[in-house]
Amino acid sequence: MANTLLFKKAEEHLVGGVNSPVRSFNYIGREPILIKKGSGSRIYDYDGNSYIDYVLSYGASILGHAHPGVVKALSSALKNGFSFGATNLKEVELARLIKNAISSIEKLRFVNSGTEATLSATRLARAYTGRNRVLRLKNSYHGHADYLLEEIDKASIEEVFKKSGNKIAAVIVEPVGGNFGVVLPDTDFLKRLRELTKEYGALLIFDEVITGFRFRYGSVSDIIGVNPDLICLGKIIGGGLSIGAYGGGKEIMDNLAPLGTVYQGSTFAGNPIVMQAGIATLEELRSKKYEFLEELAGRLAGAIREEAKKQKIDLEVAHYRTIFSVRFKEKAKFQAFYKKLLKRGVYFAPSENEANFVSFSHTRKDIDNTIKVVTNALGEI
Ligand SMILES: Cc1ncc(COP(=O)(O)O)c(C=O)c1O
Repeated sequence: MANTLLFKKAEEHLVGGVNSPVRSFNYIGREPILIKKGSGSRIYDYDGNSYIDYVLSYGASILGHAHPGVVKALSSALKNGFSFGATNLKEVELARLIKNAISSIEKLRFVNSGTEATLSATRLARAYTGRNRVLRLKNSYHGHADYLLEEIDKASIEEVFKKSGNKIAAVIVEPVGGNFGVVLPDTDFLKRLRELTKEYGALLIFDEVITGFRFRYGSVSDIIGVNPDLICLGKIIGGGLSIGAYGGGKEIMDNLAPLGTVYQGSTFAGNPIVMQAGIATLEELRSKKYEFLEELAGRLAGAIREEAKKQKIDLEVAHYRTIFSVRFKEKAKFQAFYKKLLKRGVYFAPSENEANFVSFSHTRKDIDNTIKVVTNALGEI
């Protein structure tokens, strides 16, 4: 089997054979599949197998893999050079598209990853407020640069603010959780968080690295009706290339150098190739019907729930609009289920804590086939 040999080789040179832990399939207890290529809703391994992909680069590839419009835009951009370390008009254009789609962003800055976006936004919040403490909620994920971030429970938020609200620079929150399975938005809590942060002079930061442009053409903040001070973006806005961004009102954002004193620099931020992928992706997305993604994700999530109930398997399906996750009562059951899916050509997120996504390349037939595979897999575990 090519895959086994290739993964052994990967282990010789890369730590654990991967560049990000979840890719190791440690959670599943088997070697990971190495991906040779992707096209539309499918990815292909080195043994010639294909899989319907529900990982989609952890949500980044919303148009599916190697979307022809994005490939064309990238091909034409490549011949003009890859990186200048100077402003190019592609940056301005992508910023304009994002600003037009998200009501609370007046100015933004591009960085190279979601982690860099949250790191930079929290740093800006600390400088802006002159305070040190940044809170995040338990079971949330905002990238790996989380030093200085304090984890709290939702229930303790009132008490924490009452006790030391004037020391808190910011609260950073995923408005829809995507890193402890899918966690549905708690609108009342988010509204209260908005009030509390305002009352105590702290900033509210929405981490929309997953949710930005995932549920609608824009931000989930405009669905929920809560205006954060800063929004972090990533994934989709780069069309599958490495990107991050953070933005908000001018009054806060203009504290960044060169206008202000908060230094944040980057060799590759605003890279013209990445910007071109982002522009082509958003231009495609603008005319897409997100209801279609909702239908696909809803049907699949509903079918898993129904089938599990029928077969008396203890699992929970969490679903919000275009994303879903599955959590079994026993981890061993998830592992067995996952292995069966892989064998039959369905690639779900290799951990119960990760979300599953659908793309505009997925078809109703993909969903029908996946439902068949899921039904059989549940029957065999
Ligand atoms: C909500 C959230 N914030 C931040 C990040 C970090 O983004 P990146 O992996 O691009 O650094 C992620 C990554 O999955 C994420 O889900």
